[in-house]
Parts: sequence; C-alpha cells; structure tokens
Amino acid sequence: MADTVYRASTTAPVNIAVVKYWGKRDPKLNLPTNSSLSVTLSQADLRTLTTASCSASYPAAEGDSLLLNGELSDVSGARTQACFRELRSRRAALEAANPSLPKLSTFPLRLVSENNFPTAAGLASSAAGFAALVRAIANLYELPASPSELSLIARQGSGSACRSLFGGYVAWRMGDAADGSDSKADQVAEASHWPEMRAIVLVVSAAKKGVSSTSGMQQTVATSGLFQERIAKVVPENMATMEKAIHNRDFASFAEVTMRDSNSFHATCADTYPPIFYMNDVSRAAIRAVEQINAAAGQTVAAYTFDAGPNAVIYYLEKDTEAVVGTLYHVLGGEITGWKDAVLKGLKPSISVDEGAASILKNGVSRVILTGAILYAFLPAGFPHTVTDDYLAYQTFDSLQAFASSITS
Ligand code: DP6
Repeated sequence: MADTVYRASTTAPVNIAVVKYWGKRDPKLNLPTNSSLSVTLSQADLRTLTTASCSASYPAAEGDSLLLNGELSDVSGARTQACFRELRSRRAALEAANPSLPKLSTFPLRLVSENNFPTAAGLASSAAGFAALVRAIANLYELPASPSELSLIARQGSGSACRSLFGGYVAWRMGDAADGSDSKADQVAEASHWPEMRAIVLVVSAAKKGVSSTSGMQQTVATSGLFQERIAKVVPENMATMEKAIHNRDFASFAEVTMRDSNSFHATCADTYPPIFYMNDVSRAAIRAVEQINAAAGQTVAAYTFDAGPNAVIYYLEKDTEAVVGTLYHVLGGEITGWKDAVLKGLKPSISVDEGAASILKNGVSRVILTGAILYAFLPAGFPHTVTDDYLAYQTFDSLQAFASSITS
C-alpha cells in the first residue's frame, strides 16, 4: 500500500575509550591513524533512542529528516549522507534480488532521536547517536548485517560510533585498506568476562564543548610532532597491553594504560599549534583525587580518563566502591544529582582528598553518573520495533527505557 509507514526503533549505548582514537588518515572515509579500545557503558544510564521510518506517502520534496532531542537537525552533512547512502544501497540490493519487497530504499527517511544525557557535553553523544541511527535504519530495511558490518557504516558517521555496535570491551581496528573495508570494530571480550567493571562520570560542564573532536584531531595531525610518536609507538603498545589486561582481568594494568593513554592524548592536544585544552582545573583536581585514592588504598583501584571535554570518567571495580565512590561522595556532597542509594548503601569512606582539590571538585562538578559495563549493545531481536507515531517516538521512551533497564545491568 502506497501510504504504509514502515518503522523500527532501537537504542544504542555510549562507549568511553581507554585507548583513544585521535587522528584521521582519510577524513573522507573517516579512517583513523590508530586503533582504539573502549568499554561500552550501560544503557540504563546513557543511551540514545532512535526511531527510523519511511513511507511512499512522505513528500519527496521534503527529503530525509532528523528530529534530534525535539529539534530538526541538519542531515545534509557528508557523514550522515554517507550512512544513508550505504544503508540504502544495501536495501536496494535486497529489493533487486527479491522484487516482491517494498521499495523502501526509494522512500524519504524520517528519524527521531533522543538522548537521556546532555548532547555535546563530551559524553560521546555522537557515538551513541550514529550507532543508533545506523542500527535503526538497518532494522527498518531488514538488512542481514552483522554488528561488525554495521560498524563499517557507523564509522563513517562518527569514528567512535563504530565501537557502540558491541557491548563489553570493544576494539576499533584501524585497518590498512585504502577503501576502509577493514577499518571496523570487534569485541575483545563480553561484559560478562569482567562484569565487575564500573564507571563514575563526574560531569564538569554540560555546556557545548569548544573545539569539536573532528576539527581538533585534524589540527593535531597537521601540527603536533609528539603525535607521530603516539601513533607509531605509544598506541600500538597500549593496545597490546590493554588487550592482555582485559583478558587477564588485571585491573592495575588496565588502569595504568587507561590513565597513561588519556595523558598521552591530551599531551598531543597541548602540543597542537595553537594548543587545544580540553581538561580544566576541575579535571586536574579529579586526577589528584584519583591519585590520592590509589595512594591511600595502597594499590590502583581507580583510573581516570578524559575525552574531548573536561568531564572525568573514572573506572573502578565493584569491590572498590567504598574507596572510590565513597570518597567522591564525601568530597562532592549528596546535593548533586546522580547518586544511587543502592551503590551508596553502607559506604563508610576512610580516604580523604586534600582540601584544595576537594573544594575545586565540589564547586565544579554539577552531577555524577554511576554506571558500568554493558551486556547488550542493542535490544535483543524479537522486541517489538513498531511505535505509534514516528514524530512522537519519545512517548514510547518510558516503556523502552523500562524494558532496556530490565535487560541491562
Ligand atoms: C576523544 O568519534 O567524535 O572521544 O570521527 O570526527 O566524529 P569523529 O570523532 P569522534 O572522536 C572521539 C574522540 C575521543 C576518543 C575516542 O572516543 O576514542
């Protein structure tokens, strides 16, 4: 029927890299200068929900559209267009092979997308956003594509998005093919391999960040000498050590590489000319707090990492909740949002952070997010994808959210 509206919904998680992607060798195909590795975080806390729909009844003159957090967003950019093109051509191939299929590839697309966290606050929203966009359209088109194949497409939307196609511990292999066909994500380990992994995000600023990742990394590639050492030597060593640490569930090694790699990435930002600074005084106070927690614990129980913004993400193991979360709760106070009673229950922090760092953190952290590694990157097959109205998709958000929470840790 000409006016049938076809719909599919999905959610996608955020991932936070412990070996950072920073630098493109081919900006057009979005191919990186180095491999990277991340932990996919629970969708119960950080997620994008996207509904994709298409219909012959949508006016062709209006073209494709995206409503992002309630506002129309530009889809004419090369990255979004590349994702649409790749997905449409895969659908067109199915339609050519089976003429009884409706010609969805020829219909305009309407997408509705919602984040449950501040967009562009350095919280990897583009990763969850492009992963959800690609997966929702792939579901709509009923493409028989594996997460790894979809990661090739999501990569062209935003590099880090390719890692959000998997749960658990995920590597993006840089590849060496000129056409990018081997630059995709794979799963290093399921979350269930090391399910004790937790993260606390200290949200320093929910304001939009200064220099975008895309332009920042291009400036670094063009001007930093230190960057050459990072991609040739530092990252390959960090990747190998990190994979071994995850395999052996060796937190001390995981933590050291995480902190060293974050420091190395931010050093190349400072070595960019003119320099780029993503971390601020609050970020540096978070580093001091982590160092003092580790020193007082007598072993490495916490690891900080920072993306292209001032927010601190601190990884720790569940058994060390008291040392890490208890200490930070004591420093930041209970007034800010994000604390979870179940996590705080019975905590008696014994570690103190120096006055200077503590007061900078107390004044500068606006909320916390307590989260952990995730088992599923996407809702399992069989979950009903149809929603009532594509432009009112957020009405289904609560029910999807409840379902997603019930299947994620
Ligand atoms: C610092 O994936 O946002 O978060 O490919 O240009 O969209 P584009 O960049 P993006 O860069 C993320 C950089 C990072 C590190 C990481 O996630 O690995």
